[in-house]
Amino acid sequence: MDVFQIEGPVRLSGDVEVNGSKNASLPIMAAALLAPGRSTLLGIPQLADISVFKELIEQLGCQVQRQSDGLLTIDATTIDNPVGPYDIVRKMRASICILGPLLARCGRVEVSMPGGCAIGDRPIDLHLTGLRRLGAQVHLKNGYVIAEAPQGLKGASIFLGGPFGSTVLGTANVMMAAALAKGRTIIESAACEPEVADLANCLNAMGARITGIGAPRLVIDGVNHLHPVQYRVIPDRIEAGTFMAAAAITGGQVHITHCRLDDMMAVVDRLQNIGVTVEPNGDGCTVVGAERLVPADITTQPYPGFPTDLQAQLMAVLALADGNSVVIEKIFPDRFMHVAELNRMAANLRKEGPAVIVAGVKKLIAAPVMASDLRASAALVLAGLAAEGVTTVNRVYHIDRGYERIEERLNRLGAKITREEGGTV
Ligand code: EPU
Repeated sequence: MDVFQIEGPVRLSGDVEVNGSKNASLPIMAAALLAPGRSTLLGIPQLADISVFKELIEQLGCQVQRQSDGLLTIDATTIDNPVGPYDIVRKMRASICILGPLLARCGRVEVSMPGGCAIGDRPIDLHLTGLRRLGAQVHLKNGYVIAEAPQGLKGASIFLGGPFGSTVLGTANVMMAAALAKGRTIIESAACEPEVADLANCLNAMGARITGIGAPRLVIDGVNHLHPVQYRVIPDRIEAGTFMAAAAITGGQVHITHCRLDDMMAVVDRLQNIGVTVEPNGDGCTVVGAERLVPADITTQPYPGFPTDLQAQLMAVLALADGNSVVIEKIFPDRFMHVAELNRMAANLRKEGPAVIVAGVKKLIAAPVMASDLRASAALVLAGLAAEGVTTVNRVYHIDRGYERIEERLNRLGAKITREEGGTV
């Protein structure tokens, strides 16, 4: 198991290009299952999660080829085993987004029920409600969700709001199933995240008829067939935000390219609030850290609010602000595994239910720390860039799930990170 040794503090400067979005790529790979034939996807990042999804799609009976330049082809001519097995789903919850497309294409699907994970319980009740509303029969057997619609699916009006707002992958599943249903489906309280909009645009490029893209009311007029597509995924706004946070925490100056600032207004707003400069520049922006970071409050919300996937990274930045901040997590109220680890690096964070009070400190001090999930590990890497001494981040595989060779890219900006084998299991 690899570890990072991070020598700090450093001040980052230079240019970095953002990769294609992980969370757009996964459902778009699932969408390719809707159309017999070969789809070509562009801008797919080289990540562990993409490899797991590739494995999942291959065992359905499809052929997947991946090239180093982000090009990935999926030949979905044959699907002879519409099953998402436990051994793959337990590695990656996002596997659940094969449910909708396989149900629509094959009339039957079995997917292992995802369990909880480091960021919380993560139920899928809304996915199942939506598919039932489209006419599927759904039951649970031996830990598997089995959904069947031998006569095909029928359009319906579906409300997808839950106690924490809408659901990103639930909206993706229902939208993909509805694309091939008979008649009109209306999804009310649909997730508005740019990754959901990207999926809808890809489906339309395959011949689907979806309107209201990016809004909470999606209207989907079902079609009989979808065709294979060539489609480029959007840049990863969470990766872009992580590089912004890296510039902020090191007081550096970083030019971030291939970044859609329009998708990131809540993040830019919070960074500007703490004194960081974010200037649009070409197809991205230049981020300049502040002499002194001003404290600020952050509440995570569904898009266009501040994303939960950047909560941990911004908390690391606020740990060095000049005063007290409050971070409230409204999407995954238990997503605070990074708090105790950041405190091991001399941060002063106190968890109070779904909130953390961040008392800014003058400096962070290196320590051995444990990565627990993808975004929490990114926060520890950021803290390591700013901390005095050598920080060891264990269980780096978490970060490899969502960031492509993050250490090489940060090193090109002036970081001093080495990847070593070993570390604490
Ligand atoms: N929820 C329900 N019922 C459901 C589904 C969700 O109550 O049926 C709740 C969840 O427990 C949570 C909230 O609704 O409180 C939002 O969850 P959502 O379903 O939107 O999350 P997701 O679709 O499983 C995606 C991303 C996550 C990201 C969330 C929120 C992918 C592959 N995953 O998960 O990304 O945090 O949306 O924006 O797109 C990450 O990349 O690190 C990551 C965890």
